[in-house]
Amino acid sequence: MTVLIKGGTIVTADQTYRADILCTDGKIRSIGENLDAPTGTRTVDAGGQYVMPGGIDPHTHMQLPFMGTVAIEDFFTGTAAGLAGGTTMIMDFVIPDPQQSIMEAYMQWREWAEKSVADYAFHVAITWWDDTVSADMETLVKEHGVNSFKHFMAYKGAIMADDEILVNSFSRAGELGAIVTVHAENGDLVYRLQQKIFDMGITGPEGHPLSRPPEVEGEAANRAIRIAEVLGVPIYIVHNSCRQSLEAITRARNEGQRVYGEVLASHLLIDDSVYRNTDFDIAAAHVMSPPFRPKEHQSALWHGLQSGNLQTTATDHCCFCADQKGAGKDDFRMIPNGTAGIENRLEVLWHHGVSSGRLTMNEFVAVTSTNAAKIFNIYPRKGTIAVGADADIVVWDPEATKTISAKTHKQNIDYNIFEGMEVKGCASHTLSQGKIVYADGELDVERGAGNYIEKPPFAAYYDALRKRAEQKRPTAVNR
Ligand code: URP
Ligand code: ZN
Ligand code: ZN
Repeated sequence: MTVLIKGGTIVTADQTYRADILCTDGKIRSIGENLDAPTGTRTVDAGGQYVMPGGIDPHTHMQLPFMGTVAIEDFFTGTAAGLAGGTTMIMDFVIPDPQQSIMEAYMQWREWAEKSVADYAFHVAITWWDDTVSADMETLVKEHGVNSFKHFMAYKGAIMADDEILVNSFSRAGELGAIVTVHAENGDLVYRLQQKIFDMGITGPEGHPLSRPPEVEGEAANRAIRIAEVLGVPIYIVHNSCRQSLEAITRARNEGQRVYGEVLASHLLIDDSVYRNTDFDIAAAHVMSPPFRPKEHQSALWHGLQSGNLQTTATDHCCFCADQKGAGKDDFRMIPNGTAGIENRLEVLWHHGVSSGRLTMNEFVAVTSTNAAKIFNIYPRKGTIAVGADADIVVWDPEATKTISAKTHKQNIDYNIFEGMEVKGCASHTLSQGKIVYADGELDVERGAGNYIEKPPFAAYYDALRKRAEQKRPTAVNR
């Protein structure tokens, strides 16, 4: 398919300019003024609209087996919902059970993801440790295009990685030229607080945030950052929800450490009052970890994005319907943790970020697409509009308005955490691999059309880290 996007204003992370874009065979072939279209070309009229790199969501969990159930949104429905909102690539997580072979889990997730309609990549979680895990990490980096390993510092008794696992895995990732990522919450403290709060008779969803205060997140973020510093490995902290973890990141970045931070659109916009809703279904629908925070954390997180101390935005898209959340009706600890948002990330961030003046359009592109591509080493194939890049593109109508609702969304979940939010600025067209897959409210997707995207290891970071380490090493003269 050849597609000409005509008359729009291209917005990348560093430029804004008027030009047409011609896409063939999945790539951007030319960019220029008044481009001619070969016969048979489909034309998208982008007059009055912005043309941006498709969103990259670096944090999703399609069909994740978790807390005794399985997330209801699968790779087919989830990537389709993403395209409807202008997101053209996801990075999902392979999460092996403790003692399960890492390679076996990776192969399982690859099979599940074959039905994706948009491109995808994987981070692989390290949930236990022995020599086979170490060997599998090498195989994943060298043969399967995995350059990021995830560590859950929470979920004690399930997938939690303790300090010994962190040290072993971070050290191995460093040898392999990979980046480490963490879910930063002190799992031992959460476990203790959950017990205490439940024993006090607080059994409903309001107990969830009480058991996971911001200090628990700040402590874990700081600990992971310091372990990464000592071992000389770049680190990416997922879903920062509070001032405390942002401060840990900011401090380390100011010291020159390679530390990156992600924030969820939901943590920027939703506060902890949702847990006090007396309707169990609504309160439980918001149970995720880390939890939504008091409002003052939201302004800190916006400042983190504006200052560049947080570089990416994600959704942590992980869908559990009311009947699944009901498993925790009498005990908040049993409510499956997770919320949705892949379809809405770009529009809520445009509305509350760009339209409110918090972000420029170029910053919006950086935090929704380009920075994730750079941090996970798939730029400029992804994350920009340039000749030779993948033709993953969103045409953005800044005048379009909509009221977000579960009644109309394409996500496979019965609740929308942004329910009733009115936004101005939405995707009018989405191109994935050069094909028009979403136009004016309608999806036209093909099951299995998504490609697995390999993420190569990080020569550049490690060259820099090695040089720094060599400079710090004591010499015979100054010892
Ligand atoms: O509550 C959440 N975030 N569920 C998904 C798993 C995780 O911690 O990211
Ligand atoms: Zn997490
Ligand atoms: Zn997650």
